[in-house]
Amino acid sequence: MLSQAQNDLLTQTGPGTPGGRLLRSYWQPIAEEAEMPIGGAPLPLRILSEDLVLFRDDENRLGLIGLHCPHRGTDLSYGRVENGGLRCLYHGWLFDREGKCIDQPGEPEDKKFCHKVRHTAYPVQEHGGAIWAYMGEGEAPLIPELLFLTAPEENRLVFRNVQHSNWLQGLETSTDPAHTTYLHRLPVGYVSIRSGSDVRALRGIEPPSIDIEHTGYGTRIYALNNAPNGRKYLRVNNYVFPNLAVPTTSTASGYQGRWYVPIDDHRHCSFEFFYRETGIDKEALRKFRAENVASDRRHIRRADNRYLQDREEQKKDSSFTGMGNYFPAHDCFAMESPGPIQDRTHEHLGSTDVVIIEVRKTLLKAIKTMEEGGEVPGLVRDYADSPFRDFLCVGTFIEDHEDGPSYCRRVLGERKAAE
Ligand code: FES
Ligand SMILES: [Fe+2]
Repeated sequence: MLSQAQNDLLTQTGPGTPGGRLLRSYWQPIAEEAEMPIGGAPLPLRILSEDLVLFRDDENRLGLIGLHCPHRGTDLSYGRVENGGLRCLYHGWLFDREGKCIDQPGEPEDKKFCHKVRHTAYPVQEHGGAIWAYMGEGEAPLIPELLFLTAPEENRLVFRNVQHSNWLQGLETSTDPAHTTYLHRLPVGYVSIRSGSDVRALRGIEPPSIDIEHTGYGTRIYALNNAPNGRKYLRVNNYVFPNLAVPTTSTASGYQGRWYVPIDDHRHCSFEFFYRETGIDKEALRKFRAENVASDRRHIRRADNRYLQDREEQKKDSSFTGMGNYFPAHDCFAMESPGPIQDRTHEHLGSTDVVIIEVRKTLLKAIKTMEEGGEVPGLVRDYADSPFRDFLCVGTFIEDHEDGPSYCRRVLGERKAAE
């Protein structure tokens, strides 16, 4: 349970808010690369309650500037891409990707005040199939070198989805290892296209025992199940500062990154990054997504249609929820149904909520550190000395004498010895 003040601190992310400053201290994914083809149209985006437009100039360089023209507010996403920038349709002012006004037609030559007009602009880069923005102060850090961003293209894929809740509800759903036993329960034998595994056959049906460990990049989360084959099945999931969850896909060879980026305080983008060591069947994943996500990037199952819940499906135990077999739609129900901003002053956290408590604690601590002038945690400044050198995300059977932390120590030790 949080106080109202703590809940506000974590959920308010607009310009000038402490929570917003924290999220702006890290690179954030803002679009799929596929949304910005060479020669494509500018893309209006709302990020962290700021209205912006992402565009490629006539040399195909990316820019991210304020959506509303600083002259009289017209929407620049309708503008023309020409002469080294984006030209407003209303009176023709031209802005480059750094937000400089580089042409002001109609103003007398001797009175032009281009130099006085500096529009909002943020650095952007393409990386790992996504486009990223740094909206913070000072020197930008590096984007973490995680396999779903750095592996060969055939081993990774990214989707941007829109969900109608505060960003923290998204993060809390993805970092919670206890919910999968119920929310995502499907019949034994169901192999998910997204994870490549039959979850119940691997983990059984009882909730896992959960343990956590602090790392330089966030929190390592151990979920240990007694598997139906009599062995112990371990998932090593991760919470990464400040708004990324990296859960295993239940196979030894892959994981997903789920980055929760506020649109504003009532909606967020969920970026789903897939990594699979053996390669990804992109066609199958895209098809499955197209069957479940509408053109507005929201799940077809949504509050307006009561998530298309089918009570017969539920009675037959074809699914626990009666909401089909697409896990993100189940998650979306769990994160949207508490309301746009969950009232955390009236909840009852149990022992399985240890990760939720931990995530909130670390976020509150990071905000306090930042407000006192210190550096926020988990920033990567140098890949050779990155906290992610200790990163591990895996689902695997372990020996009876091992537990999560001892398994991890052994594997990381072996990895270091091999370097
Ligand atoms: S409103 Fe954009 S140039 Fe006038
Ligand atoms: Fe889930």
